[in-house]
Amino acid sequence: MEKLVVEGGKRLSGKTRISGAKNSILPILAASLLSSEEVEIKDVPDISDVEVMLDILECLGVNVSRESSTLNLNPSSLCTSEIPESLMCEMRSSIFLMGPLLGRLGKVKVSYPGGCDIGPRPIDLHLKGLASMGAKISEESGYVYAEASKLRGSTIHLDYPSVGATENLMMAAIFARGSTKIYNVAKEPEIVDLQNFLNKMGAKVKGAGTDIISIEGVNYLNKVSHRLIPDRIIVGTMIAAVGVAGGEIIIDNVIPEHLEAVIAKLRETGIEIWEDTDSLLVKVDRIKAVNSVRTLPYPGYPTDMQPQTMALLSYADGISVIMENVFDGRFGHVEEFKKMGAQITIDGRSAIIKGVNKLTGAVLKAPDLRAGAALVLAGLSAEGITIVDEIHHIDRGYEKLEIQLQNLGAKVKRVHAPVINV
Ligand code: EPZ
Repeated sequence: MEKLVVEGGKRLSGKTRISGAKNSILPILAASLLSSEEVEIKDVPDISDVEVMLDILECLGVNVSRESSTLNLNPSSLCTSEIPESLMCEMRSSIFLMGPLLGRLGKVKVSYPGGCDIGPRPIDLHLKGLASMGAKISEESGYVYAEASKLRGSTIHLDYPSVGATENLMMAAIFARGSTKIYNVAKEPEIVDLQNFLNKMGAKVKGAGTDIISIEGVNYLNKVSHRLIPDRIIVGTMIAAVGVAGGEIIIDNVIPEHLEAVIAKLRETGIEIWEDTDSLLVKVDRIKAVNSVRTLPYPGYPTDMQPQTMALLSYADGISVIMENVFDGRFGHVEEFKKMGAQITIDGRSAIIKGVNKLTGAVLKAPDLRAGAALVLAGLSAEGITIVDEIHHIDRGYEKLEIQLQNLGAKVKRVHAPVINV
């Protein structure tokens, strides 16, 4: 099993470049199934969730080739809609495949999605929307079956602005007969990226980034070349890293308007952030507490920055409160931070953090992707050595996080702990 070993006390300096967004590439890989011609995607991050999604696409008959961070896919040879359960369970995003496979092949069988342990991950909004478009949905012994000779346009009101349900239903509507309107949609930048990708292939989607998305059904999508937007959550993670470790860095390949809530809130903690067109200069002296951080759907404070923000505020002068409003139970990292001496209490959806001068290195376990990254961040300024285990969670969404931090002066290394077969 691999672990990350962090030696605290090194300030950060230098420059880092952000890769394409994980939460863009995953729905865009699913959407590539809608094309009958070549699909080229640039700035693809080298992360394990992409590997899993590419394995799934290859199982479905798609030809895949990769040249560094550029992917070339040929979905014209798509031949089945049965996704292998072993791959389906590896990450939640495989649920995005329902929409495109229904649209392309008229039927799909998926097992309930896997993914991070950050609380219940229902798919009722996905299924309700697909049913309203005429799909026959059945669920049996852990599998979901959907069938429709031809989906029909529909008016859909999402009970919650779910990112995945918005994306799945956008993709399902591409080849549907007539027009579809989806209300109360998610407005994340990754939804806009997906709309741009689909429209480059000849789809007719509009409204992404607003509360209502409209789709006119078409019959064919052609080839496309698309560069992903940068990963705003990795940008936020790097800003928090400077906040914890101290120092000054430049972050390249950033779209600042994708992080307005994050930049505003982290400035409140005392981190100085200067914006340029596609980069940020970040520096810090002292971190101070902030009264409240409330996670919300975009453009609110992203839930995917919640654990990293908690790492930062564990070192702040004063008492901070973080309220997690998107997921039930996204506090798996609190017990790990407390092993380092953090003073955090949970009260319902809120975490009350009493900042301390120093945390102490400890042996920790990454409970999920963003929490794992947050534990590494906490170790950057801890006394002594912090060991983070279960780092496969981190590798799902960060390209060799230890290399990125090493290049900024941190002492973080990946060790291959021996697996002792008893
Ligand atoms: C996407 O997950 C992201 N993943 C998550 O990022 C992110 O945390 C989340 O959106 C919220 O921003 C990808 O894009 C691949 P949701 P998703 O559907 O689509 C409830 C990361 O670290 N809900 O917006 O699964 C659900 O229970 C990951 O990069 C229903 O009730 O999130 C949750 O409380 C973690 N019924 C809320 O909506 C449904 O049918 C938000 O979920 C669907 C969702």
